[in-house]
Amino acid sequence: MKAEITNSRQAERVLENLRKGIPPSGLVESFTVGRRKEIDWLDDHLVDDEAYALLLKANYGSGKSHLLELIREKALRRQSAVSLVVLDGRSGVRFNRMDQIFGAILMRMQIPAGRGTKVGMEHCLDFLAEASEKARRKEEGYDNKFWSKVTNDWKWDYSEHLKSAPLFIALRAWAASDSSKVRELVLDWLSFPQNYYTKRKELYETLVVGLRKHFRDPRPDQEFYRDSLLRFTGNGYFYCWSALEDLHRMFVASGYTGMAILFDEFEDVLTNLGRIDYREAAFWNLFRFVSGDRFSGKTFFAVTPSFVEKCKLQLMEKGRWDFDYSQFDDLPTFAMSPLRKSQLLQLVKPIVEVHEIAYDYEVAKETVEEMRSTITDASTFAVQDRARQAIKSAVGVLDDSLE
Ligand SMILES: Nc1ncnc2c1ncn2[C@@H]1O[C@H](COP(=O)(O)OP(=O)(O)OP(=O)(O)O)[C@@H](O)[C@H]1O
Ligand SMILES: [Mg+2]
Repeated sequence: MKAEITNSRQAERVLENLRKGIPPSGLVESFTVGRRKEIDWLDDHLVDDEAYALLLKANYGSGKSHLLELIREKALRRQSAVSLVVLDGRSGVRFNRMDQIFGAILMRMQIPAGRGTKVGMEHCLDFLAEASEKARRKEEGYDNKFWSKVTNDWKWDYSEHLKSAPLFIALRAWAASDSSKVRELVLDWLSFPQNYYTKRKELYETLVVGLRKHFRDPRPDQEFYRDSLLRFTGNGYFYCWSALEDLHRMFVASGYTGMAILFDEFEDVLTNLGRIDYREAAFWNLFRFVSGDRFSGKTFFAVTPSFVEKCKLQLMEKGRWDFDYSQFDDLPTFAMSPLRKSQLLQLVKPIVEVHEIAYDYEVAKETVEEMRSTITDASTFAVQDRARQAIKSAVGVLDDSLE
């Protein structure tokens, strides 16, 4: 593990997270203990082309976010783009609204880049625009045929090889122009498509007409208005779903293995969607991700073990008898077994190491013993979030010993 932590600032950041009882983002794999078999199973899932959505089940404080972080790290290492969206009240993203989900996914997109990664939609659009050029030059790893169809032989005038017309228009504008007016509009539009349903004129003027010196879109202007080429809503959010699939396809055609989407706090759909029909729509979106028909990348949903029961109960209480309840029973699920004492004790070593790197000293043997007994106590008494309590108190022992 030491090799991965290169300096004391990084080590301190890891400790800050552990003190709060949250996963050490970016270095989760080095801090993961548990059943090897289960983790191997997860690895298999990540390379299985026929596997789509997965519910990740764990109790409060016992490893949901940790698993998502682990998957994120693994996916990036496999050269996949990844987006992790937290669905709590603060994020303002509702799962019945595919336009909001799409925006949130794009805003948080993380892509592998050399030895590191890059986060944010700008990087994602830059990557795709550059990929189209690399494909034109027939660089290795870039699918020349695919990009030639997307861009109509790099004329970018008109093509329907991407299923999402608005995504094509946005990417084309990004690739054509680096004016800040154009780019800010593209970023804002894709981040918050819901704010643009009455601003089609602005989109059309800036992203199509205003860029005529770069490309000439032959379609009559009414098409942009009447056929909603500039709206992500309508027709069951068709353009949002197809935009996700288009992104996945474009990544694959540009040397990545695809695109994975991770949703943390997914149980939010049960508490923050006021109306039952909104919740129903959210469940449908979940099932659509499960089928892989609309989006063939991988998706992960973190929930507590009682999630499915709660969903059914809420639907029944509202008299939704026509709903197909069996779909809930068919949801592919992964549950990491709760960590045992012996596994939690394995965390002593990496925690000690990271503390030593952060504060440049050597931890005394007695302190290590004290940590072990604290973890033992915490794992015996605390019930649900024993992993979190054990880790927090172990770091606490080290912090106290330094003072
Ligand atoms: N398999 C594991 N190996 C090592 N540490 C783990 C493991 N699972 C969880 N942890 C650690 O336990 C703590 C709590 O885990 P995590 O934050 O993932 O729980 P959670 O289920 O997301 O909690 P909440 O319900 O509050 O969102 C974190 O510090 C995390 O790194
Ligand atoms: Mg969590």
